[in-house]
Amino acid sequence: MSGYRFDSIDKLVNTQDGFISRELFVDSDIYKAELEKIFTRAWLMVGHESLVPNPGDFYTSRMGEESVILCRDKAGIIHVFLNSCRHRGMKVCRYESGNTSLFTCPYHSWTYTTDGRLQGVPLYKSLYDGVLDREANSLVSVAKLANYKGTIWATWDPEAPDFLTYLGDAKIHLDQALDCRDGREGGSEVIGVHKWIFPANWKFASENFLGDTYHNPSHRSVDLIGIGPSAASGKKGRRDDELAVAQHVWVSFPVGHGVHSAIQPEQNQYVESFLDNPVLEEYFRHCYEERKRRLGDGARLLPFVGTIFPNTSYHGRQPRGLCAWHPHSPTSTEAWRFFLVDKDAPQEVKDYLRHYYMRYSGPAGMTEQDDLENWLYATSASMGTVARRYPFNYQQSLGAYTSDHPLGGDVSLQVTEQIARGYYNGWAAFMRNASWDEITGGDRKGAARHAAE
Ligand code: FES
Ligand code: FE
Repeated sequence: MSGYRFDSIDKLVNTQDGFISRELFVDSDIYKAELEKIFTRAWLMVGHESLVPNPGDFYTSRMGEESVILCRDKAGIIHVFLNSCRHRGMKVCRYESGNTSLFTCPYHSWTYTTDGRLQGVPLYKSLYDGVLDREANSLVSVAKLANYKGTIWATWDPEAPDFLTYLGDAKIHLDQALDCRDGREGGSEVIGVHKWIFPANWKFASENFLGDTYHNPSHRSVDLIGIGPSAASGKKGRRDDELAVAQHVWVSFPVGHGVHSAIQPEQNQYVESFLDNPVLEEYFRHCYEERKRRLGDGARLLPFVGTIFPNTSYHGRQPRGLCAWHPHSPTSTEAWRFFLVDKDAPQEVKDYLRHYYMRYSGPAGMTEQDDLENWLYATSASMGTVARRYPFNYQQSLGAYTSDHPLGGDVSLQVTEQIARGYYNGWAAFMRNASWDEITGGDRKGAARHAAE
């Protein structure tokens, strides 16, 4: 149990005036409390069903600092278990992925079936008969699991609301990252996962992907060659012109989710740009026409980035995919990037996108390096005794949002830190053990009462 002073959480997070203490990004007691208060309650993204397509397939993942096994059992049902033997805690699965009929613990050889049941216990009759309850010694399962359009989410909290309630109005933005480019629901697959560790607090990454459009100058060099995240590229093209006339929105949702999307004008246009590859151009243009036919007005919404609280982010367009920012220590994070493509896209499209993703993202990607440099220097520069006295400034576009917009949430029509302020309000609610009603916005009076205190 962390000894952190929970009565001081609201002093650390002052979103009304726009200040967040640096302690959130470096303090080890706060970090321990986050593992306990946030990562054992919130819905966390564990992986994707395409990583375990066949019975017996498994993929080891993480929830907070803990190793978990994402597994499809013999009957085809997906489970998520704690990767720790009930006997002395050894990891029952030491591989990243594979296929098995049993998980055999390397220590004393207890074996578990792919649906988590304890099956084999050496010398069971002579040493345990009548005492050992196999059922009670199954692998520890998550309390709730959701397969949302192929992505697998889980929580350890049996009281947690269902996943869609947790997601709230952030759903339509996340959908844009998960659905096929032609507007069909789901239908995506993971074509690769990048994993690496970087020396910065996990919230730097989560916050950046809420929609920190303000940081785009960091990517000036990639913008100049036309693969950066900014719509205002130095290399002007059709995509830039069309994005420039779209209405950009930054939306903060209950729980702490935040997104940056854009709404195209009535005469919405195809805006992917793969001018150097006619197959890609043709594929995406076809997808766009299909999407427009299926979704009508809904096709006007263009997703950029977002974070589903606490640590799952997405890129809605290219490079399309999900990022899990796994906490490792107060000042160290393990990044996992899952790259998505339409499952039934032509192989040439998948190959092109795989290369594009590697060039753009990941530890060697041209864009990701810019962000990593910012986060790791900001972390190390915030660790000093003097530096820690001075909170970070979050006053950008203070109060400049509307809560009365068809997209739901608090909507800003200008670059804003409102999404970050909303994220840290969510963070503070988890850290002071707020009720689920208050966290999801069901208890708006409770949240308002707390804000006024
Ligand atoms: Fe797994 Fe002993 S720790 S069988
Ligand atoms: Fe960036």
